[in-house]
Amino acid sequence: MDTLSWLGHVTLSPSHVVPLAVFLLAFYLAAFYRRRAGAYTNIPPGPKPWPVVGNFGGFLVPPALRGRFGQRRDHVSVMEALTSQADLYGNIYSLFVGSQLAVVLNGYEVVRDALSNHPDVFSDRPDVPSISILTKRRGIVFAPYGPVWRKQRKFCHTTLRSFGLGKLSLEPCIQRGLVTIKAELLRLNGESGGTGVDPAPLISNAVSNVVCSLILGQRFHHGDPEFRAILGLMARGLEICINSAAILINVCSLLYYLPFGVFKELRQVERDITVFLKRIIANHRETLDPENPRDLADMYLIEMLARRAAGEEDSSFTEDYLFYIIGDLFIAGTDTTTNSVLWTLLYMALYPDVQDKVQAEIDKVVGRRRLPSVTDRGSLPFTEATIMEVQRLAVVVPLSVPHMASETTEFRGYTIPKGTVIFPNLYSVHRDPAVWDEPDSFNPTRFLDDEGKLLKKEFFIPFGIGTIPPPCLRESFESFQSASRDVTVPPPPGRRVCMGEQLAKMELFLTVTGLLQSFRFRLPDGTPPPSLQGRFGLTMAPCPFRVCVNDRSEDRGTHVI
Ligand code: HEM
Repeated sequence: MDTLSWLGHVTLSPSHVVPLAVFLLAFYLAAFYRRRAGAYTNIPPGPKPWPVVGNFGGFLVPPALRGRFGQRRDHVSVMEALTSQADLYGNIYSLFVGSQLAVVLNGYEVVRDALSNHPDVFSDRPDVPSISILTKRRGIVFAPYGPVWRKQRKFCHTTLRSFGLGKLSLEPCIQRGLVTIKAELLRLNGESGGTGVDPAPLISNAVSNVVCSLILGQRFHHGDPEFRAILGLMARGLEICINSAAILINVCSLLYYLPFGVFKELRQVERDITVFLKRIIANHRETLDPENPRDLADMYLIEMLARRAAGEEDSSFTEDYLFYIIGDLFIAGTDTTTNSVLWTLLYMALYPDVQDKVQAEIDKVVGRRRLPSVTDRGSLPFTEATIMEVQRLAVVVPLSVPHMASETTEFRGYTIPKGTVIFPNLYSVHRDPAVWDEPDSFNPTRFLDDEGKLLKKEFFIPFGIGTIPPPCLRESFESFQSASRDVTVPPPPGRRVCMGEQLAKMELFLTVTGLLQSFRFRLPDGTPPPSLQGRFGLTMAPCPFRVCVNDRSEDRGTHVI
């Protein structure tokens, strides 16, 4: 007889429940501390974790009560708080999310050393319950480091390049979205009576339409209510996962099924996005013409059929996998670029003198009778430097995407156990006083040399850090870059770096220059400037803001096509 089957016959009265709960909690805590003491010798130092919930117990306290418990420190952003821990514990410190050990890497030297010199150990992704429940560890972004991830990533990158990623041929697609943004900005600004326009929905729509064109072969009208709802749901889903009580799903995954609050909302968000994407995939399957692939989804289905025909039964190329890849590219490619454009508009409104200089450069090099092109990039160094300076300060993916140690390793005198979550703190790199003069000030000229030419800085890593080629190969890589007919070429082979860097740079450049060529941006009269701390999620979004636009064509009576 099963030795535990008697448990099924025990009837618990309320008077038994409390002592039993106390006993179980005490047992759990004893096991927790024993495990930690045993497994975690010589780990990096860090703040003392609470039992069970680790260092994120603050989320258990309702926001309204946090002030009373001394936790309301509105003037310090999450990233400032995380980065300042390095002053107390050093550039490598530990945190606990529940009983999960996480190590935060701070400053350029440490981040580069880990990701660039130890890519085989630090390229995995953690099995974070709140994310794994949603992604099933498929797709690219959160897939474990290994042959499946490598095959899927390579296929997607090659396919996206064949559809124009990083190439001049994608320019018209981006410019089409720009035309809509401009027309709508003018219209809404006129209707606003001086109160300004919220640019976020317009920018987000244009940016996601570029990704949609590449992967789904279709654009959505900016007024399409379903599409707008999906974009809103994706942003909300990310925010809930990262910055709400739902983070406690990582302590106890059963919380995901709670029938109330953010837990219930998260499940609804997931359901709505699934229905939307599955319908699009089904439509692709039904209308597939293998001779004329329209987009990445078609190419994927063709690859899937080819592998099946070749008898590859255990291939990872399945419709289910395609679903997660589309979700990944949609989320990775929309929020990041949208927020980068929005931050740039906000900085332009807050720093009118910099805006003047950018516009003067665009007027001189491009004029007002044609749209800026990526081929103008080399001739617009101040504009490029301004975009880079905004990216440096805004750091839209401040903790990168979490990495994981795939084996126990010694790193800079500490033991990092297998399975440790690694947060490369990119925010700390971009504010590192060891490598930047006055890191908190907005100064685009830091990216220019004495002759006004653009300087490349290796400490500027908004897209993450890959394997840096050794000095002997660096020169040949750079000459390959300048000789290439592509507008941008992929970075040197790394492990986990952004797959959409070239696309993002193109979108950012064309959208920002196109908008500044046509409009002058300013905050509505009498409104206080929004905080530059931003809203923390997987990506760092600016706090909501409105801008007034002045049509620059009225200055000189010139019109941009
Ligand atoms: C300004 C815009 C963007 C920024 C700042 C950005 C930044 C990043 C960062 C920091 C990472 C994590 C790298 C790491 O693991 O160390 C990442 C990963 C990734 N990004 Fe981007 N990204 C941007 C735009 C895009 C776009 C437009 C796409 C695609 C269409 C994209 C696709 C991806 C993918 C697929 C990954 C995961 C790569 C992997 O795990 O192998 N990103 N990005």
